[in-house]
Amino acid sequence: MTARKIIIDTDPGQDDAVAVLLALGSPELEVLGITAVAGNVPLPLTTKNALIVCELAGRTDVKVFAGCEAPLSRKLVTAEHVHGKTGLDGPQLPTPKMALQDGHAVDFIIETLRAEPAGTVTLCPLGPLTNIATAFSRAPDIISRVQEIVLMGGAYFQVGNITPAAEFNIYVDPEAADIVFKSGIRIVVMPLDVTHKALTTRPRVEAFRALGTEPGRMVAEWTDFFERFDKEKYGSEGAPLHDPCVIAYLLKPELFEGREVNVMVETNSELTLGMTVADWWRVTDRAPNALFMGDVNADGFFALLTDRIGRL
Ligand code: RIB
Ligand code: CA
Repeated sequence: MTARKIIIDTDPGQDDAVAVLLALGSPELEVLGITAVAGNVPLPLTTKNALIVCELAGRTDVKVFAGCEAPLSRKLVTAEHVHGKTGLDGPQLPTPKMALQDGHAVDFIIETLRAEPAGTVTLCPLGPLTNIATAFSRAPDIISRVQEIVLMGGAYFQVGNITPAAEFNIYVDPEAADIVFKSGIRIVVMPLDVTHKALTTRPRVEAFRALGTEPGRMVAEWTDFFERFDKEKYGSEGAPLHDPCVIAYLLKPELFEGREVNVMVETNSELTLGMTVADWWRVTDRAPNALFMGDVNADGFFALLTDRIGRL
C-alpha cells in the first residue's frame, strides 16, 4: 500500500505538536514537508517548534519550511494565553539542531503540488490559512492538483473560542480562509463542534505518560499545560485536542461523523469576523463545499493516538 502524501501546515502549539507526532508515527502517511505559519505564536517560534517536534520524533529527515509571518491583510493575533510564551510550554524544550530548509513555505507548497502527480497530495492545515491561500493566489494552477484539504478550524454549534462567533484559526486570517473555502477543492473540516468532544481526560493523559518514552512524556506534559486554560474556561474534564483530529481522520475516517454542507467565512462584520457560517439545515441554495465534522469516537481517537505515539 503506498503511503498517502501530505503537507502539514502548522502553528505549533501543543495540539499541533501532537498532530505532527501522530503523522510521523503512522506509516500510512508520507509527510512531504511541514510548513510553519504564524498563529498561536509568532513565526520564528512556530518554525522552531516544528523543528523540535521532528527531532522529538527522531525524524530529522523531514523538511521544515518557514512561511508567512502575518495574515494576508490584518495584524497577527496570537494565543500565548493558551499555549504559553514559547507556544510549547509545559516541558523543558530542547534547542533544535536540525536545519530549517532554505526557501519559503509557500514556494515549497507550489513546487511540490506542481511536481507530484495531480490529485496525490493532501494539504493538512492546522493553523491560520495564510500559507495555503497565498500559494493559491500566487499559483492558481495548483488548486486543481490538490487531492483534498483536511483542516482544523471553524465552529458552528460550538460557537467561537477567540470571539463569541469565531474559532482562532479562521479568525486570525478570515480572508485566507475565504479563499480556501471558495477554492472548489474537496475540504474536510474539523471544527470545534468535533474537537470539543476529543478531551484530554486524566486516564488518556496518563496513557501517554505510561508509554515510558520521551515522546510519550512530552505529550503528557504538553497536555498537562495545554488543558489548564480550557478546563478553567469550559469547566470540562480536559482540553480539546484539536489538531490531531485532522491526522486521525486520514488514518481512520470511520472515527468521525459529519455532514456535507455549505460553509462561508465572514470577512466584513467586526462583530462576527471569522465566523464559519455553515448552512447546516440547507436553508440556502448554496452548494455544499465541505464535509463539516460534528462527532468523533473519542476512545478510538485516543487509542489511535497512544498507539502511534508509542511507536516513535
Ligand atoms: O482553535 C483551535 C486551533 O487554534 C488549534 O489549531 C490550535 O492549535 C490553535 O491554532
Ligand atoms: Ca494549530
